[in-house]
Amino acid sequence: MAENDGHSGVVTASSWPQEARWLHAGIAVGVTWQIWSSLWMTPQWERADYGSLGGLLFNAHAWIGLMTALFILWQWLWIASDRRIRRQFFPWRGPWRPVLADLQALARGCLPAGGPRPGLAALVHGLGLLAITWMAATGSAIYFFLPQGGALPGPALDTLVPLHKLGNLVVWIYWCGHVAMTLLHALRRHAIWGIFRLW
Ligand code: HEM
Ligand code: HEM
Repeated sequence: MAENDGHSGVVTASSWPQEARWLHAGIAVGVTWQIWSSLWMTPQWERADYGSLGGLLFNAHAWIGLMTALFILWQWLWIASDRRIRRQFFPWRGPWRPVLADLQALARGCLPAGGPRPGLAALVHGLGLLAITWMAATGSAIYFFLPQGGALPGPALDTLVPLHKLGNLVVWIYWCGHVAMTLLHALRRHAIWGIFRLW
């Protein structure tokens, strides 16, 4: 594994475990598609419509949403199986020192290096995972209550759709911040793209 002290920027593709790279590919592509396609899709409550762009996008939203939910489930199984990863994403019981060190570095105008390590970025990634898990869980539930064959949406959908939409703003804020930080690292010439190398 490459050396990465958190501030020198020495981090290579192989620093990320292969599982992290595949999980990121599935989740980043899936969630990015979901939020952008949601801008143009037209939900169909009474029957599936494949004859318009909005209709096609909604059907894709449902299917790609379910596939992304599987990647997110896989991410949670990985987190559950590895205490080190768990504490990286969710340091509720510590260690808080790496998070504080990153905040101090930022206050001095120094951008901490990326890579798989505890710290502020990992904590924000954990919060982002919680937000997309909410979207995936409520979206998957919506799928099973979509009316078939001309029926009108029932009370379950009337509850689930607003719950699903509740996560919209948080996921957009996460996405914009995450992409902006990636670009900032790239501008500083940090080796940030390793997470996209699948092999
Ligand atoms: C909403 C969609 C996305 C989610 C939920 C997401 C989530 C994550 C998570 C959880 C990590 C940490 C991986 C780990 O510790 O195992 C990560 C890292 C990373 N993501 Fe994303 N990601 C998303 C979209 C993107 C996009 C569109 C880009 C491209 C600009 C991107 C670029 C990166 C980079 C460069 C890293 C490595 C950061 C570092 O070295 O510290 N992500 N992402
Ligand atoms: C990771 C999975 C998913 C993500 C990230 C996601 C994301 C989103 C976003 C960002 C919106 C727009 C919310 C708004 O405009 O306030 C939305 C709307 C919606 N999504 Fe999902 N979604 C996912 C899975 C699903 C699944 C599996 C279904 C099942 C059919 C679904 C059904 C819907 C519906 C019905 C709407 C409301 C559209 C409307 O009323 O305009 N989503 N989703």
